[in-house]
Amino acid sequence: MNRGPGPHLWIDRVVKRYGSFTALDGVSLTASRGELLTLLGPSGCGKTTLLRIIAGFLQPDAGQVSLAGRGLNGVPPNARNLGMVFQNYAIFPHLSVAENVAYGLRARGIASSEIVRRVAEALARVRLAQFADRFPDALSGGQKQRVGLARAMVIEPELLLLDEPLSNLDAKLRIEMRQEIRLMQRELGITTVYVTHDQEEALAISDRIAVMDRGRILQVGTPREIYEQPTHAFVADFIGGCNWFEGTVSNGELRLAAGPRLACSAAPQTARLALRWEDLRPARETDPPQSCLAARVAMVSYLGHRVRLHLRACQDDTEIHADLPSHGELHMEGTTALFAFDPQRARVFASDGTRLL
Ligand SMILES: Nc1ncnc2c1ncn2[C@@H]1O[C@H](COP(=O)(O)OP(=O)(O)O)[C@@H](O)[C@H]1O
Ligand SMILES: [Mg+2]
Repeated sequence: MNRGPGPHLWIDRVVKRYGSFTALDGVSLTASRGELLTLLGPSGCGKTTLLRIIAGFLQPDAGQVSLAGRGLNGVPPNARNLGMVFQNYAIFPHLSVAENVAYGLRARGIASSEIVRRVAEALARVRLAQFADRFPDALSGGQKQRVGLARAMVIEPELLLLDEPLSNLDAKLRIEMRQEIRLMQRELGITTVYVTHDQEEALAISDRIAVMDRGRILQVGTPREIYEQPTHAFVADFIGGCNWFEGTVSNGELRLAAGPRLACSAAPQTARLALRWEDLRPARETDPPQSCLAARVAMVSYLGHRVRLHLRACQDDTEIHADLPSHGELHMEGTTALFAFDPQRARVFASDGTRLL
């Protein structure tokens, strides 16, 4: 097995067309050994297409996928040593839990005493030891997905591919299972490509995230980089809650229609400023007036761990959200108040979506 330098998984300028529709438009990506890389993007952006190309179920029209230094074009899926888990379980209904997990080991001709040992170990890891003899019909959705995980990991694959594995589970179980997947993946050190359209899941689980839109990768970075330093308006908007303010750059300054101004050395143009919902707060005496804006409180939503204010800027009626600590000062619907932000927290984008500031 290649353990040398260089990326473990290397995706180089992959193009995939369905008829005249371009589903992947020159995608390049790498993952290092043991990394959990997430493909994040809206439905239809090409995540599953890319995963199926990595798995070998689809052939790219151009480009190359390599694993551990070996080009995979033309290598059939069963010769790629991959573990896979999909949204819809895809476990065999006529086999017991233990037989499902043993399946891949039998197919590889492993001795039965070793199969017994490895299946028991895999089932213990996903906390299904006591369900070994059950059939899939008698399992919950979460348990079925654990069988899928055990079956994928038991073969000690070179690469693990997970396509929205938690989408069919309820919210609480999704959070539990994503932690389990992450712990297991780390413990075993398996290079993993994880597909989701759920931004919070991506932030919680990933070493790095590749944000996709319409067959292209817009940004690759750690969860913190993606959230705090989005390089594209689409990335800022897709991840977390953002307020958008329209404005104009001229004479070294961005002036927002909603009132505030900030220094911006870009060429004169229209621009948009993005500000996270949690980055707007009630103004203090010491806040400079150019970082403040007056807004009417249209609605107050109490969310337990915070309060969400639905605001309208007095100056131009821009719709704004502010997430405040729920133990802070009270805001009454129908009143007007002054809000402020730290210019360091603002991100400015050109009209084509690229970052200006
Ligand atoms: N077999 C196919 N034939 C034609 N179009 C397809 C096919 N599979 C996927 N597509 C289209 O390609 C785009 C990307 O699909 P997919 O990779 O499944 O996206 P995602 O997994 O991000 O939701 C979508 O617009 C989808 O409709
Ligand atoms: Mg998909």
